[in-house]
Amino acid sequence: MGTRTRRKTGPAALPAGLYPLIGREDLARRVAGLGAEIARRVRPAERPVAVVVLQGAFVFAADLIRHLPPALGLEIGFLRCESYGTGTVSQGRVVLLQDLDAAIDLRGRTVLLIDDILDTGLTLRYLIRHLTMRGAGRVRVCVLLRRKGAKQRQGVKADFCGFDIGPDFVVGYGLDHAGRHRNLPDLAAVHLEKPAARSIPAKRKRSAP
Ligand code: IMP
Ligand code: MG
Repeated sequence: MGTRTRRKTGPAALPAGLYPLIGREDLARRVAGLGAEIARRVRPAERPVAVVVLQGAFVFAADLIRHLPPALGLEIGFLRCESYGTGTVSQGRVVLLQDLDAAIDLRGRTVLLIDDILDTGLTLRYLIRHLTMRGAGRVRVCVLLRRKGAKQRQGVKADFCGFDIGPDFVVGYGLDHAGRHRNLPDLAAVHLEKPAARSIPAKRKRSAP
């Protein structure tokens, strides 16, 4: 017979060196809100294609796309790129490890480019150019996180953004550190001595569709 001791429920303990940043309920609420914002501002006539940046955006994208109306007729594709390697500082160069399926014709269509975090902007600038070269009519950027005060964003703006966060390197909900922690259901920050300022939901823009 196994032990009858029951574990208390509640937030799972985090691995050593991590501390909590944004919990699953807040993530779920904000992702639903982002879905509603996108639904208001992207039209079926734009024949939208969601392009998910692997690997970091896969959990976010999986949740987000299920908040988008079926009437949008969304097509979904993936590409994979890397700029960080195993460290916590951008290597300053983006490598496209896997391109979007060649069968997806982007010409004249709106791309909803979904990434985990807008930091220096190098990755998204590279991808916006790449997708524009492939014929996209318009690229609209959707990120879960945007690092406040990042020195350069390469002119990249997020059309849709979940949360503004501080300087700490974050993991969980798809984001990794050296390949680990992607499966954490909450977002956590790595290894700093003191917690960063609380993350705040990004201000909703009231710009025209
Ligand atoms: P950027 O090119 O500097 O804007 O960095 C964007 C990419 O770096 C993201 O798509 C992430 O894959 C990765 N990245 C940046 N900051 C973090 C972080 O705090 N945790 C995990 N990955 C990050
Ligand atoms: Mg990434």
